[in-house]
Amino acid sequence: MHLLIPAAGVGRRMGSDRNKLLLPLRGQPILAWTLRAAAASASIEWVGLICQEIDKPDLLAILDTLNLAKPVVMVLGGETRQESVYNGLQALPPTAEQVLIHDGARCLATPDLFDRCAAALQTCPGLIAAIPVKDTIKIVNDDGIVTATPDRNYLWAAQTPQGFHVAPLKAAHDEGKAKQWTVTDDAALFEKVGLPVKIVPGEETNLKVTTPEDLKIADSVLSDRETAA
Ligand code: CTP
Ligand code: MG
Repeated sequence: MHLLIPAAGVGRRMGSDRNKLLLPLRGQPILAWTLRAAAASASIEWVGLICQEIDKPDLLAILDTLNLAKPVVMVLGGETRQESVYNGLQALPPTAEQVLIHDGARCLATPDLFDRCAAALQTCPGLIAAIPVKDTIKIVNDDGIVTATPDRNYLWAAQTPQGFHVAPLKAAHDEGKAKQWTVTDDAALFEKVGLPVKIVPGEETNLKVTTPEDLKIADSVLSDRETAA
């Protein structure tokens, strides 16, 4: 299974002076945790690391330290996550028929989650890891007034990995580009072209490190794992 890791953001909401994925988490850059988990998944055979030119030296240093037993190819990212994934798809070897996409910022996903997504992709063209929403979600208008309360039984919080058969995903990206669709994940492109996206049970701890608060939570999850090990 081929894996793309979008890591070409800037981490604006983290408020740091550099890409948040380079910030330390229990002594290692955030992205190092992501890469190690992915490489520890028996299903993953190739990694495309999507990054900005400016981060390349730091990422090469991380890869040097990790010395992963799987090939990692650097791909130049774009202005948005959508463009970054688009570039990643173009960089896949022609033999790649299926792909998993996993945010560099989801550094707590376990190898087991990658394996379960890879296995599930054998039986459907598109999937996402997701967990049931615990909060009641409100739809709110521009005036700050609640306009609807969707039935929570139908609400799931999307995570990554997301997995797809490469040909239909590339076609969906091409159509999205031509029609200027803006989406925040690849599953949304699949939905827009009318292809089914299946849910794979995600992990409660699989948070996307976005704000400084998330870094503290990630630290405590990793600390618990160390204690349990
Ligand atoms: N990403 C990317 N290319 C972009 C923007 C984001 O590859 N142009 C990646 C990020 O590096 C991250 C993932 O997509 O691993 C999810 O994005 P997000 O958590 O929003 O990260 P940032 O865009 O870096 O953060 P922010 O939105 O706060 O600036
Ligand atoms: Mg972003």
